[in-house]
Amino acid sequence: MSPKGGCGKSTTVMVLASALSTNEDLSIAVVDADPRQSLARVWIGKREESEIGEPPFTVTSEIKETEIVDMLEKVEESADVVIVDLEGAAGLMSSYVATSADLCIVPMRPSALDGDAAGSALKLIRSTGKAMKREIPTVVLITQTDAAITTRSHREVVEELDSAGIRRCSVELMKRAPFERMMAEGKTLFELADTESVAKARENAKAMAREIVAIVEANH
Ligand SMILES: Nc1ncnc2c1ncn2[C@@H]1O[C@H](COP(=O)(O)OP(=O)(O)OP(=O)(O)O)[C@@H](O)[C@H]1O
Ligand SMILES: [Mg+2]
Repeated sequence: MSPKGGCGKSTTVMVLASALSTNEDLSIAVVDADPRQSLARVWIGKREESEIGEPPFTVTSEIKETEIVDMLEKVEESADVVIVDLEGAAGLMSSYVATSADLCIVPMRPSALDGDAAGSALKLIRSTGKAMKREIPTVVLITQTDAAITTRSHREVVEELDSAGIRRCSVELMKRAPFERMMAEGKTLFELADTESVAKARENAKAMAREIVAIVEANH
């Protein structure tokens, strides 16, 4: 969740779904709750076009905010893990999904503007939790990190999060071409052709998924 367009929400969903679905004992459901349907329409469309076959996780969509909570309840019955992709807007849909969540992930690029948008998402999650009289576990995920250099903005963003006591994933999603290729080719990270760059992206994805799973398990 983040109102910031392009901060990496859909990519994070695909990375998590890709990494978790390498465990054949787990059934994973992706729910696309963004009216633009990047996953349910664009990604699935690419797969159909290229005849890639069934993905290793289900992808369904619900864009009506009045239906989403019931829909998630239903999906939960048949999946071990449900991952929801949200629109880049902090509306009722985001609140409703947060009420159902074991963990909200707020992706942000290491920039001041993404930090500001992440702040809005954190506020929305906090007030939704207050209204429900529970704390909704939340973690910030830094995305599109430059693998070669640590920028000044990156350092500042991390310092700011840490000094505000905001929980962040210690694994960051690096800026890597394969993360973009998943969408371009309609493939999961593990369906992309093996290259050194894909291997690095997979390692990054697995480390991220491990940390996210550990956070969810610790909250249970
Ligand atoms: N870690 C990454 N490495 C390389 N490219 C990335 C990475 N994360 C995102 N991108 C690219 O940046 C663009 C925006 O990412 P993405 O679609 O995940 O953002 P979003 O938050 O879902 O945006 P929206 O609010 O529009 O739904 C996409 O073209 C995506 O492929
Ligand atoms: Mg998106």
